[in-house]
Amino acid sequence: MAVNEQEVEQIVKQILSQISGSPSGTAGTPSFSAGASATVPSVAHVAMLTSLEHFEVKEFPMPPVGDDDILVKVEGCGVCGTDAHEFKRDPFGLIPVALGHEGTGEIVKMGKNVKKDSAGKDLHVGDKVVTCMIFQDDPDITMYDLNKQNVGAADVYGLLPDDDVHLNGWFSDYILVRGGSTIFNVSDLDLDSRILIEPCAVLVHAVERAKTTNILRFNSRVVVQGCGPIGLICIAVLRTLGIQNITAVDGNEMRLNFAKRMGADHTVSFKDYQGIEALTGAVKESFGGHLADFAFQCTGNPAAHANIYKFIRNGGGLCELGFFVNGGDATINPHFDLCSKEITLVGSWVYTLRDYATTFDFLKRAKGIGLPMSELITHRFPLNEINEALQTNLAMKGLKIAIVN
Ligand SMILES: NC(=O)c1ccc[n+]([C@@H]2O[C@H](COP(=O)([O-])OP(=O)(O)OC[C@H]3O[C@@H](n4cnc5c(N)ncnc54)[C@H](O)[C@@H]3O)[C@@H](O)[C@H]2O)c1
Repeated sequence: MAVNEQEVEQIVKQILSQISGSPSGTAGTPSFSAGASATVPSVAHVAMLTSLEHFEVKEFPMPPVGDDDILVKVEGCGVCGTDAHEFKRDPFGLIPVALGHEGTGEIVKMGKNVKKDSAGKDLHVGDKVVTCMIFQDDPDITMYDLNKQNVGAADVYGLLPDDDVHLNGWFSDYILVRGGSTIFNVSDLDLDSRILIEPCAVLVHAVERAKTTNILRFNSRVVVQGCGPIGLICIAVLRTLGIQNITAVDGNEMRLNFAKRMGADHTVSFKDYQGIEALTGAVKESFGGHLADFAFQCTGNPAAHANIYKFIRNGGGLCELGFFVNGGDATINPHFDLCSKEITLVGSWVYTLRDYATTFDFLKRAKGIGLPMSELITHRFPLNEINEALQTNLAMKGLKIAIVN
């Protein structure tokens, strides 16, 4: 009987796990370093954005793995709106750059000093991992609030300047995670969940920010404005908290339908209403004649920011998270929109390491209550079709686009 290489590896893993008593495929799986190291090729393939709207898959020699480094074989990476901005306009001035920060993969080689992940969990060859931001201490901020690392400077794999190693982004087949990085062992999550960790952490953080207002409660009426991946995941996080009186607002029917599947009670298409008064009337009607207690702004559209105050009752709250890049100014009326309504407004910016850990539990819970998280990934492309993947994202076809090796 012919047995292929994968089957041999699986059989060896099973035998090893029986010897050690730990179940196959879990974080406790014994190291498979000899075999895994032996299969590391001599070159890696990295999708480099070399000019606007143009990736080239380049070959680079596999770098040496230092004592504090981890070599990861990439399994997949989501395409983020930030990748799309960089692809289209290079706002960060990074070209040539190895993009991709929503990635995950398997450890194939580790330096001798590497023992634990950023949460203190053991790391072994064969474990599935994700990286998080590498926060830089900014005493101006952290002197006053240690939980505010996320608004200081930070590095992230997938948005680093190119260097001699080149394996700096997750749109690749191998990535070298250097000593001092943040990394989490997520072997107990399936591939789709691992690809979704980074965007989900954005929403876990946003909802944590919203909770600080003390306005968001179990029975709150909540508007989620914008139903791209960010707004849809926002609905999912709210649902796992038991909040269900949710109205989703967007102009895209497919996205509004998905919002319902994610747990929104009602949907409102802004395209069906002329003017903000009619639109506000539709939002109010969706809550049985009431305005929202709380709203999340997830569009990236300044006009949407200007509108959202109208959907919120006096004394209500707003979480603004929809602008990871500069979308321009929004005009509001401070008298009507903020002062006289006494709105509590919070901004939300990425996530903290703690939010990352919470996100792993969120993903299991979301699955547990039957939310269609995996279906957020509507398109999967191989690495050599990365230009098509980014164009698909720009054309707003589908929801989350992923590169899967
Ligand atoms: N705060 C953070 O840390 C953080 C992190 C990641 C992304 N973001 C931001 O979140 C935003 C959303 O991300 P995404 O990936 O879902 O983007 P997306 O472009 O896929 O989705 C945006 C959605 O908003 C809808 N929309 C536009 N104008 C609207 C309006 N007036 N009313 C209602 N809906 C409207 C669009 O139809 C679209 O479905 C982006 O602008 C991104 O910059 C913020």
